[in-house]
Amino acid sequence: GAEVVINGSSSPAVVDRSNESIKHNIQPASAKWRHNQTLSLRIRKQILKFLDAEKDISVLKGTLKPGDIIHYIFDRDSTMNVSQNLYDLLPRSSPLKNKHFGTCAIVGNSGVLLNSGCGPEIDTHSFVIRCNLAPVQEYARDVGLKTDLVTMNPSVIQRAFEDLVNATWREKLLQRLHSLNGSILWIPAFMARGGKERVEWVNELILKHRVNVRTAYPSLRLLHAVRGYWLTNKVHIKRPTTGLLMYTLATRFCNQIYLYGFWPFPLDQNQNPVKYHYYDSLKYGYTSQASPHTMPLEFKALKSLHEQGALKLTVGQCD
Ligand code: CTP
Repeated sequence: GAEVVINGSSSPAVVDRSNESIKHNIQPASAKWRHNQTLSLRIRKQILKFLDAEKDISVLKGTLKPGDIIHYIFDRDSTMNVSQNLYDLLPRSSPLKNKHFGTCAIVGNSGVLLNSGCGPEIDTHSFVIRCNLAPVQEYARDVGLKTDLVTMNPSVIQRAFEDLVNATWREKLLQRLHSLNGSILWIPAFMARGGKERVEWVNELILKHRVNVRTAYPSLRLLHAVRGYWLTNKVHIKRPTTGLLMYTLATRFCNQIYLYGFWPFPLDQNQNPVKYHYYDSLKYGYTSQASPHTMPLEFKALKSLHEQGALKLTVGQCD
């Protein structure tokens, strides 16, 4: 069968960050883009050889019991016990069971969304995925409000909610969780040992206050499977970002996939500064050796898929 060319060139990525954003020129949202149904289906089939979003989106109740021991994916020598709270919050069946959507939005957190006016367009999609509990209310015009699934890396509790040091921060998190109003809250609980307490705090809060969210905890194999898929396609990522994980999962249940807020560069296409996140003052970290992510490399792959019509990237204003 024909190969899906994701990493446009056969040579390793040339690292020249001085004018990275220029090289990544993407046509404005209004420019002609056509969905390539054949290619999308081929990609779905290929990804299914590595993982199945319906299964890997969450560990299910039937597969674990309280007291079971799990080795963290990135800290193999560290273990955790499955707590009663975690067990109580495991779904009985996949939150994506038999789900199919016409169009999905995956909203990344880049500052490129600011002044995009993309909110209304994002909200028209049948299924909207957001990352890391990013705030929406104050930014609705640019990012929309609809949220069907939102991810929460445990580190968010530290970064955005001051590790719940006092009642004010606990209340803030609680309000954010209540606002999710029945959507899926996706918590990578088994990745790194650093998240241990934070995951437990959130679980406790959800149960204690009967928060209306459908919790999901990605399977132990998801990360390696996603990495495997992209490596096979010559995209040499170290550790997939949340955004790339979401795209990879979405191929299973979305016919057309629209990406917003994916722009891991400090300058936009007109050389204006872009914030790393649309909602906070976090700085670009991906250039550091310590960062496990390779966002510009991921972006290059997504851009190539955009050009082939497998997904649509919006990096400027919406009409
Ligand atoms: N993203 C992007 N450009 C940015 C910021 C984010 O393309 N300037 C995309 C990435 O795919 C990222 C997603 O949006 O995974 C969500 O952003 P963020 O919350 O920063 O996610 P991560 O970096 O994955 O979070 P973490 O470092 O906690 O893993």
